[in-house]
Amino acid sequence: MAHRPQGRVADSDLSLVTEPIPDIANGEILVRNIYISIDPTNRLWMSDVDQFETPIAEAAPIRAMTFGEVLESRNAKFKAGDLVTGQGAWETHSVMARARLLPHEEGVDLAAHASVLGMPGLSAYFGFVEEGQPKAGETVVISAAAGAVGSVVGQIAKIKGCRAVGIAGGPEKCRRLIERYGFDRAVDYKSAQWEADLADACGDGIDVAFENVGGTLLDCVLRHINDRARIVLCGLIASYNDAGDWQGVTMLRNVLLRRARLQGFLIATYWPRLTEGRQQLKRWVDEGRLKWDVDVVDGIGQAPAALNRVFDGLSTGKQLVRLTDDPWAGEINNQ
Ligand SMILES: NC(=O)c1ccc[n+]([C@@H]2O[C@H](COP(=O)([O-])OP(=O)(O)OC[C@H]3O[C@@H](n4cnc5c(N)ncnc54)[C@H](OP(=O)(O)O)[C@@H]3O)[C@@H](O)[C@H]2O)c1
Repeated sequence: MAHRPQGRVADSDLSLVTEPIPDIANGEILVRNIYISIDPTNRLWMSDVDQFETPIAEAAPIRAMTFGEVLESRNAKFKAGDLVTGQGAWETHSVMARARLLPHEEGVDLAAHASVLGMPGLSAYFGFVEEGQPKAGETVVISAAAGAVGSVVGQIAKIKGCRAVGIAGGPEKCRRLIERYGFDRAVDYKSAQWEADLADACGDGIDVAFENVGGTLLDCVLRHINDRARIVLCGLIASYNDAGDWQGVTMLRNVLLRRARLQGFLIATYWPRLTEGRQQLKRWVDEGRLKWDVDVVDGIGQAPAALNRVFDGLSTGKQLVRLTDDPWAGEINNQ
């Protein structure tokens, strides 16, 4: 990071640097990164606002989850050739002291580990099931519904017997919500009459709102919540490009009057239950009840543009940057 971005990330905020691959110390592994996970939180980490993790320091590499192959190991848990994920950076090679071994199971490729079985899928699962406490027959509204997290939340809502209403930008994404992910209704927030469409799609009102966006969109959702509604704040992407305080909500009145619960959620709370969540997601994948999509761009130089794709709503599914051939490619079981 050459300097902290103001607003959207510009190419000039970053510089591509070549350095020798460092020697590893005892307990560390050297990983050749195959995919870099591009997440909205990468942009958050570039800001110096108060946040869960330490902001990225100027001149430091952009922190990111990576998926790759162990080249060298001085850690008894790993050997050369293992495929692992961990916190690396926008870099071709990462030195990691902690990583997670990726099991090579039938029907699971690296892209699935990065999406439906990785952080997005786990956030959808724990955020919705544990924090949202959905009950069969309830109406669930999901923002950024066509994205990596939102698309999984909608499908889990259907598995749990709920009515799933997705909010997404544009007719093509709305069509995917219904045809590919099985949502009951899709609302295009870019349409002029979207607030009326949302009211219509919600029918008798919203019981669970899974919020990925925030800002004025969250206000519209809050207008339609039912008594004892649960609002899970998973993300506020509408504000991540902003410096200073983030856009607030004005419809707190309904949180009070409907005796609703507004609950912040961070996947970090659930790391101790990662295996359990992953096993459940994998079962649903095996049963053909969860579909996922990845959007792959090639080359480390594409990372800043890939991040902006996520903010511009251009990515279809989990956004990844591929640095080198994926050894498990072609094994995706995602019809
Ligand atoms: N709390 C946690 O632990 C946790 C973990 C993972 C992710 N998250 C959060 O979950 C959210 C989704 O993450 P993701 O990785 O799955 O990304 P994603 O949904 O695949 O991509 C982000 C989507 O957000 C929508 N968007 C962007 N700016 C918007 C705006 N101003 N207004 C309305 N929609 C906007 C775009 O969809 P449209 O084309 O529909 O506009 C875009 O495709 C993010 O807020 C992220 O920070 C939180």
